[in-house]
Amino acid sequence: MPNAIRIVLVLSLCCVILACQKPKEKVVMLDQQTFGTLPDGKSALIFTLTNHHGMQVRITNYGAAVVSVLAPDAHGAFDDVVLGYDSLSGYVNDKSYLGVIVGRYGNRIGKGKFTLDGSEYQATVNDGENHLHGGAHGFHKVLWDAESSQTDSTQSVKLTHKSPDGDEGYPGNISIEATYTLTDKNELIVEYRGTTDKITILNPTHHSYFNLTGSPTNTILDHQLQIESDSITPVDNGLITTGVLTAVEKTPMDFRELIAIGAHINDASEQLTFGKGYDHNWVLRNQNGKVRKAAVVVEPTSGRVMTVFTDQPGLQFYSGNFLDGSIVGKKNIAYKHRTGICLEAQRYPDSPNKPQFPSVTLKPGEVYRQTTIYQFSTR
Ligand code: GLA
Repeated sequence: MPNAIRIVLVLSLCCVILACQKPKEKVVMLDQQTFGTLPDGKSALIFTLTNHHGMQVRITNYGAAVVSVLAPDAHGAFDDVVLGYDSLSGYVNDKSYLGVIVGRYGNRIGKGKFTLDGSEYQATVNDGENHLHGGAHGFHKVLWDAESSQTDSTQSVKLTHKSPDGDEGYPGNISIEATYTLTDKNELIVEYRGTTDKITILNPTHHSYFNLTGSPTNTILDHQLQIESDSITPVDNGLITTGVLTAVEKTPMDFRELIAIGAHINDASEQLTFGKGYDHNWVLRNQNGKVRKAAVVVEPTSGRVMTVFTDQPGLQFYSGNFLDGSIVGKKNIAYKHRTGICLEAQRYPDSPNKPQFPSVTLKPGEVYRQTTIYQFSTR
């Protein structure tokens, strides 16, 4: 056989072998960098989690904050769908809980007072006359310890923090763990675990502001929302729950079917007046502690969809009513009124003072657990 033909045959055979070989899955490495230096001289880290579809989530261990989430639109274009800051100082100075984990108690406790086993406790008053989101120096203002890990289909950052007895007025030395995992199903999973050495209360939640248009210069009023809920826990004018549940039917709180957030936000309604828009806890149908779908957000222009799953009995839907353009976030964008939506999985607001609500009490020997998932897709 002439040499030229032999070479052609060998080359063709090589091509066939190469074509038949299964392409090796690309290994994407979890990245860790220094985010900045805190006023006390300690360094905060920033982790970049990337999945095999190119979705990317950045997390800092200061405040356990999600700094950015790059999610694809219906045409495959990636944009950042959360509000946040370009640098650490933004998080140090932040007063709006952008992307952080709040606690020990997410949401409000009336006058900051609660009683456990006959002892009365006074948590920091930091929202009018009430306690909000763990107080002045809650989980959102501490540097958590961080450890990252990855498998073939997930990347995780496990954040841990010890809050001492008396911290912000809460009893008990507690250990809290929050693990963020990005999966190849475009899910951002947030898992919490907490223990105490003395009876206490624990109700942490995640406080990302989402804007699925990918550009927070747009409001979220055209985002459509559906919540798996038939009732809310109405509030008084200080946003403290009254203790009853009211049906959403025939009210602007009705998100049983997908509807634009802006459709009824300006309706005449005492609850909307108190909240300055939506800032209420929806009682989820799922009350059995299993992880179930809680809500769906659809952004019609980009086609982005976010589905929230949780094992918690309540979901605070906050429509960014306090954003007023005074916060300048990533890319120098001022966050104007209603440019972000928070969906905070939790027990009900002021539950320490409402024995009829699901309990937030944690005793020594017990383990607090929560799993909440934000899953991104398109339609
Ligand atoms: C929450 C509260 C709101 C507001 C924001 C932060 O979700 O329910 O009232 O305090 O946090 O600005």
